[in-house]
Amino acid sequence: MLFKHWKEYYEQNKTHFAHIDLDRPDELTEEEKLVISSSLQQFQRGEHSEGKHLYAFAQKFGDPDYLDCIRLFIPEEQRHAMVLAAYMKRKGIPLLRGHWVDNVFRWLRKLSGIENTVRVLLVAEIIAKVYYQALFNATSSGLLRDICQQILKDEDQHILFQCDALKQFQRKRSLFGRWFFSGSQMILMTGTTVIVWWHHRKVLYRGGYNFRKFLKRTFTVFTETNTYINHRENAGAVFPV
Ligand SMILES: [Fe+2]
Ligand SMILES: [Fe+2]
Repeated sequence: MLFKHWKEYYEQNKTHFAHIDLDRPDELTEEEKLVISSSLQQFQRGEHSEGKHLYAFAQKFGDPDYLDCIRLFIPEEQRHAMVLAAYMKRKGIPLLRGHWVDNVFRWLRKLSGIENTVRVLLVAEIIAKVYYQALFNATSSGLLRDICQQILKDEDQHILFQCDALKQFQRKRSLFGRWFFSGSQMILMTGTTVIVWWHHRKVLYRGGYNFRKFLKRTFTVFTETNTYINHRENAGAVFPV
């Protein structure tokens, strides 16, 4: 999809949480709260970013439509953080100020230009896609399930958006450059999957993902994204094309 179409998508999606009444009656059992709290705190923290470096790198890329997309994409992720924060406040789960995994991701995103930033972001989007499905499965809170469902819908589109951007960035790359970037991304994907499993295993396990299944699912989506980036026509049905 062209960036001007992504811009339209993000414009239209500004009211993505309008159908969810965050004040409606809802129940989260104490036992469930114990299982999900610290995990939810970390993901809520990860969703919130001012996106300054992403915006600055996008400016350098020099495509006004892409810059407009980024201008809309950043607040869309911030709305994920805001809605999760509102839910947590209702349930008496305090917000996290920082976490080392989130700090590492923020540092990695700042390391070099736009392609590196988007590749790191894509890894986070893939993890989010699997995690929110697990959280959806793991909870009986109707409100949290509705929030997860909307976030999952958005993350599918984010994955496609990042892939479309990477297709553009790759055009200028030599074969060695492509190999280097996708190899580094593979290493990051592997490390992140292991770390996320360790920190969120209670929610993932309860949501139906043992380590093997989690690894398999994240790498299936990761492979799909690579197929999509390199040969769009061959992409499968793991995320909508
Ligand atoms: Fe998100
Ligand atoms: Fe996202």
